[in-house]
Amino acid sequence: MYRGEQVILRAYEKTDLERAHQFFNDYEMMRFLRIGAIYPCSLEQEAEVIENLNKDKSKGYAFAIATLDGKYIGGCGYMDLDQKNATCMVGIVIGDKDYWGKGYGTDAMRVLLGFLFRELSLRKVQLGVFAYNVRGIKSYEKVGYKVEGVFKDQIQRDGIFHDEVRMAIFRDDFLKRDHPPIAT
Ligand SMILES: CC(C)(COP(=O)(O)OP(=O)(O)OC[C@H]1O[C@@H](n2cnc3c(N)ncnc32)[C@H](O)[C@@H]1OP(=O)(O)O)[C@@H](O)C(=O)NCCC(=O)NCCS
Repeated sequence: MYRGEQVILRAYEKTDLERAHQFFNDYEMMRFLRIGAIYPCSLEQEAEVIENLNKDKSKGYAFAIATLDGKYIGGCGYMDLDQKNATCMVGIVIGDKDYWGKGYGTDAMRVLLGFLFRELSLRKVQLGVFAYNVRGIKSYEKVGYKVEGVFKDQIQRDGIFHDEVRMAIFRDDFLKRDHPPIAT
């Protein structure tokens, strides 16, 4: 529905379930997402997650990310929507590792920001990323996010403590740059 150069952001469908279940049981992927311990997730639990997604859009919403030819490859969305201050947090995951490092996640983030700034009229969008996620940090810098602060030694992974980097982007700065059309 919302289209970028490489991806479409659309609603989650029941048919995404099996692939989502694979994505969210992959440790190599989950280590970029979970601040806490990583547990396996059953098909039934994953179905419940998808079923309960997006019940309250005033708080958050998750889009499925698909390639232009319709293959479901991940998801992205907003949470902690603060209407008074016109801010939110965002998250993104390209779950299909064949699509890492090829610009799909960066394009999806541009489309998501277009939605948040133009459709929801938000003012500022924030995210947290673990310092070892170099690809994530580079991707966010490419769309215009700037580092706002660093939580030192915030996350333990593989027995070592790592920093969490907080990044943000403002509507005016985003809209000054090249930005995606909001809808197809
Ligand atoms: C993080 C993520 C959204 C980035 O999207 P992406 O489409 O893979 O990113 P891109 O292909 O645009 O790559 C971004 C930059 O990282 C660089 N990069 C790619 N792979 C890299 C790697 N393994 N190590 C370091 N840098 C890398 C690229 O050079 C690119 O910069 P360039 O275009 O200037 O060359 C995606 O990789 C992803 O979902 N990863 C797994 C889950 C995750 O980390 N979620 C985010 C949690 S905060």
